[in-house]
Amino acid sequence: MLKIENLAYKTGNEQILQGINYEFENGKFYVITGHNGAGKSTLAKCLMGLYKSSGKIILNGEEIQDKSVDERANLGMGFAFQQPITFKGIRVIDLLKVGGGDFNEYEAILKKVGLEPKDYLFRELNNTLSGGELKRIELASVLSRKIEIGIFDEPEAGIDLWSFNNLINVFSEFQNQNRTTIIISHQERVMKLADIIIVMKDGQIIKSGSAKTVLPTLNI
Ligand SMILES: Nc1ncnc2c1ncn2[C@@H]1O[C@H](COP(=O)(O)OP(=O)(O)O)[C@@H](O)[C@H]1O
Ligand SMILES: [Mg+2]
Repeated sequence: MLKIENLAYKTGNEQILQGINYEFENGKFYVITGHNGAGKSTLAKCLMGLYKSSGKIILNGEEIQDKSVDERANLGMGFAFQQPITFKGIRVIDLLKVGGGDFNEYEAILKKVGLEPKDYLFRELNNTLSGGELKRIELASVLSRKIEIGIFDEPEAGIDLWSFNNLINVFSEFQNQNRTTIIISHQERVMKLADIIIVMKDGQIIKSGSAKTVLPTLNI
C-alpha cells in the first residue's frame, strides 16, 4: 500500500500541491486525471522522490519521504516521465540492462511497446528519435524492471493509434501481474481500464471513485 499524508509541495511562493491525503491499494489500477497545471506530474514526481515534498509518504508501512529516487526504485517504484529525458551516449539496450534480465527479455519488451528490436536495441537515446519513440522506450525501461508500483505520466502522448492499442494491452498485462498501476491520462480509453479514477484540480484531489461513477462526471 502506498499512502500519502498531508503531502504538499511548494516552489518559490507558489503552493503547487496543497496537502494531499490518499491511499493507493496494492494491485489496483489508478488513473489520475485533471486539467493542465492541476499538479498531476508534480504529485508523481513527489511520489518518486524527484521533488522533495513535505508530509508523509508511506510504502508498505515504511516512511519513504526522505528516501532518494534510487532507494524508492529499489523498493519497487518506477516512473515514466511525461517528457522523457535523453542521455547522450546511452543506448536503448543500456537502459534495459538496468532492469537485469537478458537479451530475449529486452527483445520481448521492445516488441511489446511496438518497437522492432533490431532497429532500436542499439540506437542511442538522442534527438534522432521521435517523441513517440522516446515515450515507448521509456515505457520499455520501466517494464524491464521488476517493479511493484508503476507511475506513468501521460504515456499515450505522441503515440499513434496502432501503438495506442498496444499500450492498452501493455497496461492490462501489467495490471494482471498484480502490480499497482498509476497512470496520468486524459484518455477515456485508459480511464475505462481504471479501478479508480482520481481527479485533481489546483493541487488537490477533488474526487476519486470507480470509473463507472467518476467517468460520467467528467467533461471529456
Ligand atoms: N519546477 C517548477 N517550478 C515552478 N512551477 C512549477 C514547477 N513544476 C510545476 N510547476 C507549476 O505547478 C503547476 C502544476 O504543474 P504540473 O504538475 O506539471 O501539472 P499537470 O501535470 O497536472 O499538468 C503548474 O502551475 C506549473 O506551472
Ligand atoms: Mg503533467
